Order: sequence, then C-alpha cells, then structure tokens
Amino acid sequence: MIPVNRPSIPKKAKAYLSECVRSGWFSSEGPFVARFENSFARYLGVKYASSTSSGTAALHLALMALGVGPGDEVILPAMTIASCYFAVWYTGAKAMPVDVDEETYCINPDLIEKAITKRTKAIMVVHLFGHPCDMDPIMRIAKKHRIKVIEDAAEAHGAEYKGKKAGSIGDMAIFSFYANKIVTTGEGGMVVSNNKKYIDIVNKLKSLNHSKTRFIHDGIGYNYLMSNMQAAVGLASLEEIDASIKKKRAMATYYTKQLQNIPGLTLPIEKPWTKNVYWMYAVTINQKSARSRDNVMKHLAATHGIQTRTFFYSPRTAFKKSGLYKTYRFPVAERLEKTGFYLPSGLGNSISEFATTSRALMHSSLSKTT
Ligand SMILES: Cc1ncc(COP(=O)(O)O)c(C=O)c1O
Repeated sequence: MIPVNRPSIPKKAKAYLSECVRSGWFSSEGPFVARFENSFARYLGVKYASSTSSGTAALHLALMALGVGPGDEVILPAMTIASCYFAVWYTGAKAMPVDVDEETYCINPDLIEKAITKRTKAIMVVHLFGHPCDMDPIMRIAKKHRIKVIEDAAEAHGAEYKGKKAGSIGDMAIFSFYANKIVTTGEGGMVVSNNKKYIDIVNKLKSLNHSKTRFIHDGIGYNYLMSNMQAAVGLASLEEIDASIKKKRAMATYYTKQLQNIPGLTLPIEKPWTKNVYWMYAVTINQKSARSRDNVMKHLAATHGIQTRTFFYSPRTAFKKSGLYKTYRFPVAERLEKTGFYLPSGLGNSISEFATTSRALMHSSLSKTT
C-alpha cells in the first residue's frame, strides 16, 4: 500500500524524548514547551507563540482571545476542515461561509465584503493545502470594517505571502502539528500573535483559567496544554523545517512534471506572490472526463494500493445531518468537493511511490473523452 501520508520521524526526536525521560519532565511545565514556542515564534517572525493540544483547540482559543461569542458572526471559507466551524460554534457565534477561489482553493476575497454584517467580528482565513490566501485585500477589508483576522495556517508551515510567512500577517494565527503536518508533535497546535494581550488570554484559558490565586477561577477554562514530550518532538521537527519544505516542493515539481500533460487533470498552482509549501499535492478532475473522481480514486486503490483523499466538503454537505446551510450555494466549493482529491504527499513518502502514483494516473484512462 502507498499511504497518502507517510510521516517522517525527525532525527533528533529520540534524543529529545530521552531527555524528557531522563529529566522526568513529561507535563506542559517541562522546558521543551517554552523552547518550542520561542523557536516557532522566531521562525515565523512573530512576537508570541502559545502551544496547545491541537489545532482545533488553537482555533477555539484564538476566537476567544478576540472576544468572539454569542451574537457574533465569523466569516470563513466554504471549503475547510470542520474544526474551523466547530471552533466558532464552541464560542456560541455563527459561522458564515464564503465560497473559495477557483485556482487557489482558498477563501475568495472578492466575496468577503458582501458577507459582512453588523455582527461580523472576525474573518478566519485558511491557507489550504499549503497555498497562502491573498492576504492584502483581506487585510484591507478587515481594516475598513474594523474586524479581526485569524489565519489558519495548519497546512501551511513556512509558506510565504509576498515574503511574509503565513501566520505572521493577521491579528492572530493558528497551526496544527498533527502527524501529517510539515512540523509535527503527533497531536498539537500553536496560537501566534504580535499582540501580547491575546496571547495572555490564550495562556490563561488553555490552563483552566486560574485567577492570580491558583484554584480560584476567573470563569470557564480548558485544558488545552501541550506536553513536554510533544514539544520535544515539535522542536526536533521544527529544526528540520527547511529540509522538509524543500522535500515538499521537490515532490510537487516531480508530480507536476509527470502529470502536466494528462488532459482533464488540473494540477496545483503557485501564485507569483506566494511560496506554496504543497502540504498535499491536490488535483482536480474535469467533470467531463471519462472517469469520475471517485472512480479514479477507486482505480488507484484497487490496482496499485494507492491511498488518496478527497478535498473537504462544502458546509451544506459536511453538515447535512444537522440540516445546516441548506439554502446556501457555493458553486466553487461544491464543484471541488466532487472533483478534488490529493495524492500521496507525506514527508516520508518516497520518490518511487510518487512515480508509481504518477504512472497509475497516466494509465487511468482519464482522457478518453476529454
Ligand atoms: C486547515 C486546518 N485547520 C485546522 C485543523 C485542525 O487541527 P488539529 O487536527 O490539530 O485539531 C486542521 C487539521 O489538521 C486543518 O487542516
């Protein structure tokens, strides 16, 4: 089998984990946590970073730090992981989706302003599959309407927008360090910001919201802490980030070279103003192709054991059981949910796995009727 993501174990992980065992520091109070946070902030060029137990927890904390709550609305893309919606709902606010861009698959800035109401408190943008959103118009709109911007850079560690790192542009940003991410802690996340006030709130809420007196609480709190062991792996992983991004970009160059002439297959792009880190190599199949996306995915799995994944679903489909967004229409997200999928792209996947996948796609008879 060729897994869609074969993780790569950072070289120094073993030594750093041994240090946790030797010192006896397992909890969030161990020294690797601050080392990881400080190194991550330095890497991004932001002032503050606060580690969390997951990217989903980081999203929740970022929204709370901005004061998002019942009665507020948060604009977000119509194609993203459910974590973005869930985090808004945890706060009691409403999640207001906006369709995505045809080419980058990120939120379409041209549609944001129409979705702004008196209740809009924040825009949550998602740098999807490693390609940054077009941040300048987004920041301009946010400034004009005095609303805050959270960047979800869970899939875009080290990606750049006009020379700035994804996650260093908005009011706050979050990252995920799930095992398939470019920097990993197994499970984990980070909130970053240049605003100390926000990070102070995050630090307090993620650790049970103690008042100045421990065990006397200022309100509801959470345990969203990262352990010393996770941070040890995270630091080892962060130390390899440049090599990891190089690997991702080499993977993308290889796939693009192999697949560029398959009619009916659209390959990922890199807008001139970005550095795409190709977290996943995401392709779409023309709806008029001989085979449907699902058929091609089945073919790859059945004949070559190649695992692939669909894109995220639009909110109407993803939350169908709850009956949400029934009357909403997102033409681009709804087309992509039927046509998009991503290929094996992990840092631990080999060039021969990319070659097998490319050959299998070339022979998948995609082009018969295109
Ligand atoms: C864009 C995006 N945001 C948020 C998350 C949530 O992160 P986590 O899985 O660490 O909770 C993910 C998932 O990994 C993601 O891809």
